[in-house]
Amino acid sequence: MSTLVVVGSQWGDEGKGKVTDYLAQEADVVVRSQGGNNAGHTITFDGEKFALRSIPSGIFNPNIKNVMANGMVINPKQMLEELAGLEARGIKNYQLFVSNRAHIVLPYHEALDGAYEQFKGDKKIGTTKRGIGPAYADKANRIGIRIADLVEPEQFKAALQATLPIKNMELKMLGLPEFKLDDIYNEYVEYGKKIKPFVADTSLLLEEEVEKGSKILFEGAQGVMLCLDHGTYPYVTSSSPTGASVPLNAGIAPRYINNVLGICKAYTTRVGEGPFPTELDGEIAHTIRERGHEYGTVTKRPRRVGWLDAVALNYARRISGINYLALMLFDVLSGLDTVKICYAYKLDGKIINTYPASLAELGRVEPQFIELPGWKEDITHVSSFEELPVNAQNYIRKVEELTKSEVVLFSVGPDRKQTIRLKEFFK
Ligand code: GDP
Ligand code: IMO
Ligand code: MG
Repeated sequence: MSTLVVVGSQWGDEGKGKVTDYLAQEADVVVRSQGGNNAGHTITFDGEKFALRSIPSGIFNPNIKNVMANGMVINPKQMLEELAGLEARGIKNYQLFVSNRAHIVLPYHEALDGAYEQFKGDKKIGTTKRGIGPAYADKANRIGIRIADLVEPEQFKAALQATLPIKNMELKMLGLPEFKLDDIYNEYVEYGKKIKPFVADTSLLLEEEVEKGSKILFEGAQGVMLCLDHGTYPYVTSSSPTGASVPLNAGIAPRYINNVLGICKAYTTRVGEGPFPTELDGEIAHTIRERGHEYGTVTKRPRRVGWLDAVALNYARRISGINYLALMLFDVLSGLDTVKICYAYKLDGKIINTYPASLAELGRVEPQFIELPGWKEDITHVSSFEELPVNAQNYIRKVEELTKSEVVLFSVGPDRKQTIRLKEFFK
């Protein structure tokens, strides 16, 4: 048995989809265990580009069992559209298993997500408005509806009868139109029929795979800094994208988690509101945003851009048990005269190395940078560490030193082939 957890070590969009797809060439199982269609994972190979939302990134390899585990919140309509989109592009031969314990996202969740955001005004989180927060809130509030309910018409109706009056009261209070039970039931019961063939006890399936000695990849969504517990609360998502959440969200024992690969960009991006100490504006931000095509996969919003933040990365490493690092979008930094890395913050005159919990403190921190010489060469065709310009090599070594992690892979372009592995870490 070999397992590897792929986690985003920043604020999402680090290239988790690309790395998962790359490693899925040698895996047996790929598992998504949290989040939902707030994720957008881009995969590029053979001249084709795919943007996956809730379907695991192993879907292109017919030998892989793809699992959507209990910790996800699944929008049935969107999931079926995503599958239809893949099938229309020739991806028809796949294996997909959906947990009967996963919760579903219904139209009232999306309506409430939008309404809360509007209500918060300039305190808005900048969510993807996909109903993720309200769906997880219902789960915690024990009024959620699960896949196991959706695929049994009578059970689904009973669950809706119990929940919808509460949700309609909430909608009414916010001045929004209410939903009719029959409308949701009639539409979603059909989705349930289509999803039923994929439904399984995925915890049991994973246990069997572990016993067979399979190679299992856990594909994180979002990033550690967006973690509900450890991220920049309240500017976070509503699940935990850490390595620690995987056993709970996939229904496996913690002892099965061997290694955690943190995915990080060679710089930092963030979509939505919230603290971002190393944020840049002006010319360099513009250059990085355009060169890295830093526009959201899901919402198309321009991503906020900043220098690499080793304080945040060290925090993510510690919280999430990251022992390996994948450095992505490295090519985007080519052409800059100098590149900076934040190695510490100054808070009220004192140097600190930990990530403050307080938003007020985060508003006051001054990032401390080291400045390294840049490189002019195009690196999109390199295939080894040695082929990199010496300044780019030094950048990788400095990242390792400042984050106390080993860079085991770096990426110089979106394509599957533009991936350079420095070490075997998924045996
Ligand atoms: P994810 O959410 O972590 O899977 O990341 P996204 O797919 O949302 O965002 C990463 C973006 O960077 C996508 O557009 C990828 O195609 C692209 N990408 C990934 N790796 C590289 C790379 O090494 N270089 C460049 N230029 N683009 C990359
Ligand atoms: P992937 O998996 C980047 C951000 C949103 C917002 C906050 C809460 O592609 O890396 P939500 O809709 O989850 O309630 O929004 O979290 N966010 C992401 N940012 N990548 C993602 O996923 C994200 N998923 C959520 O922008 O700031
Ligand atoms: Mg993304």
